[in-house]
Amino acid sequence: MTTSHRIIIDTDPGQDDAVAILLALGSPEIEVLGITAVAGNVPLRLTEKNARKICELAGRPETRVYAGAVRPLVRPLVTAEAVHGKTGLNGPDLPEPKMRLCDGHAVDFIVETLMAEEAGTVTLCPLGPLTNIALALIREPRIAPRIRQIVLMGGGFFEGGNTTPAAEFNIYVDPHAADIVFRSGVPIVMMPLDVTHKALTTGRRIAAFRDLGTRVGVATAEMLEFFERFDEAKYGTDGGPLHDPCVIAWLLKPDLFSGRECNVSVEIASELTMGMTVVDWWGVTKRPKNAMVMRDIDADGFFALLVERIGSL
Ligand code: RIB
Ligand code: CA
Repeated sequence: MTTSHRIIIDTDPGQDDAVAILLALGSPEIEVLGITAVAGNVPLRLTEKNARKICELAGRPETRVYAGAVRPLVRPLVTAEAVHGKTGLNGPDLPEPKMRLCDGHAVDFIVETLMAEEAGTVTLCPLGPLTNIALALIREPRIAPRIRQIVLMGGGFFEGGNTTPAAEFNIYVDPHAADIVFRSGVPIVMMPLDVTHKALTTGRRIAAFRDLGTRVGVATAEMLEFFERFDEAKYGTDGGPLHDPCVIAWLLKPDLFSGRECNVSVEIASELTMGMTVVDWWGVTKRPKNAMVMRDIDADGFFALLVERIGSL
């Protein structure tokens, strides 16, 4: 199967990030050029370690993992241990990683890769706060036209926020970075809460991972069983939203999703709505359409893809 996507995953694992990484590593259509960790769900020293744990779980210890920003551009770091647990990867008992963290800063890796690879061939897949991506764009503005596309999980509009009434976690943690990314002119595909909240880890879907009977399948079920409890209690649903794998699933099967090109602007002034993604879904302004905003998903097809590819690890 030919590689159709060469990607850098920027991430703050987090159980849902972990499942996204497993999906990417289990899909031959995708070449993971590197994984860059950012502070978010838990501090950087944990997100980078968790990224390495997941690469080893996938049997891919040769994957290059870099540590990036330790805090947002302007605001203090806000983390989410209440959702992800103290380690950020509560659920399975994964061993301390043996694979080394790569030397050098994640932002330098992103810039150097984009400047070295043929223009338009590398996709960035941010799954956490956008601090590393914004820093890369500031460090070397020439990367912007070289990025094939940015496919990110973040934001929310009709669904509101999950961290404040107005803002989703990834954007709320670093709204200034998100503002830089959404103004960059780089083609963006956005997976907001409006679509991820339709991809619930129901009991039946988690059982399908456990029934794989593999170490990766059972660990995935254990991660999701831990991860979903917070949102099940909050929303009263069977299962919690599986956010980050939507990014990788779109690369593999874009027809699982539907949405429309819109303007997305990020609130960075008002404390009340800080980090809100204002989506001009009905085109009532003349603001540039800077993102393809997804709103619907074939959830059964999404989970079938996840089980198939994670089952291959
Ligand atoms: O709001 C959900 C997002 O915040 C996901 O990426 C989750 O991993 C956390 O980073
Ligand atoms: Ca994440």
